[in-house]
Amino acid sequence: MEMVSPTFINAISTIKWWHITIFLISVHFIKAIYLRVKYLSTRVPVLPKGTKRLVNYPNPKPVIIDFSNYYEIHYTFFSILLVPYEKNVLYVDDLMHENNPDKTTDTKDYVLRYQERLHSYIHNKLNLSIIKNSNFCSGIIFKIFKGFCEIAIHGFVFFPNIVSGMVANFEQCFYFIEGVESFFKILPNNNAFCKVFLWHFYEEIEHNQESSYLFLVYQGTWKYFYILLSAPLVFSMLLITITFQLITIIFMTPIIWKIPFLLKSFNHLCQWIAMIILSALLLFFNINASDEVINKDLALFRKLFQERFKESLEGKNVTVNFE
Ligand SMILES: [Fe+2]
Ligand SMILES: [Fe+2]
Repeated sequence: MEMVSPTFINAISTIKWWHITIFLISVHFIKAIYLRVKYLSTRVPVLPKGTKRLVNYPNPKPVIIDFSNYYEIHYTFFSILLVPYEKNVLYVDDLMHENNPDKTTDTKDYVLRYQERLHSYIHNKLNLSIIKNSNFCSGIIFKIFKGFCEIAIHGFVFFPNIVSGMVANFEQCFYFIEGVESFFKILPNNNAFCKVFLWHFYEEIEHNQESSYLFLVYQGTWKYFYILLSAPLVFSMLLITITFQLITIIFMTPIIWKIPFLLKSFNHLCQWIAMIILSALLLFFNINASDEVINKDLALFRKLFQERFKESLEGKNVTVNFE
């Protein structure tokens, strides 16, 4: 039998956790650049791209989280985070519209404010259903996280410029973190949970250029300062979210999935860090996803959504069923 060389064992034992962290962040960063670089542009985007839709929920059903599904746990925490976060988006977006120095652009048909208001409202309903239908232990974890987000994130309204940087960064992260087809793989079911997130992600693609464009025009040369200040805050927001996710995995996930889910959470955090850095760099250099690729992604998203839910996102109504 061949012996493993002692030099190899020595080399492995010198690897520290931060080597792995930097390696994973680099891999995610390079992958995102590789997938997106040919679609980036410095041109002013054609806006608005989105539609102001309504959401109907005619046949309510309870939403119950499956703790052996990593993405259901992950996105439940995102759903809780999004309610106060998107309320803040409304606030800073209002401020930037009112004080937009670019008088040549008419922003009255922009959809970000309208869409985020509805996202916040629908996610609040979804969260209440999840909490109502969860058991005692997970219910407590969700309620503590919800309370924490509401206090901590609402506190940011006193610093609207910093929030505008956080919004510009975070909105771009959503666009760059997964491709359209990945979203449909991560959220594979025909249920209300997947439908709410897929409808939401579709609208995030529709309006992500609005948030970065308005931020760049409104902040002018101050943008560098606010990008640098807000990126660590977006990171902190995600770190706290993933920490609550880890607590849930430790207490709620079936034993065989605990280690894989903890490793997946760590990898996910590294992926988010890579996206925050990428998003900050794009804002720094006034770079956006091009109109062509956004329109292509929207068309693909509509096709996949129609195939899954037999409903068109070209219409002004979306139907979800939860109570
Ligand atoms: Fe949203
Ligand atoms: Fe958004």
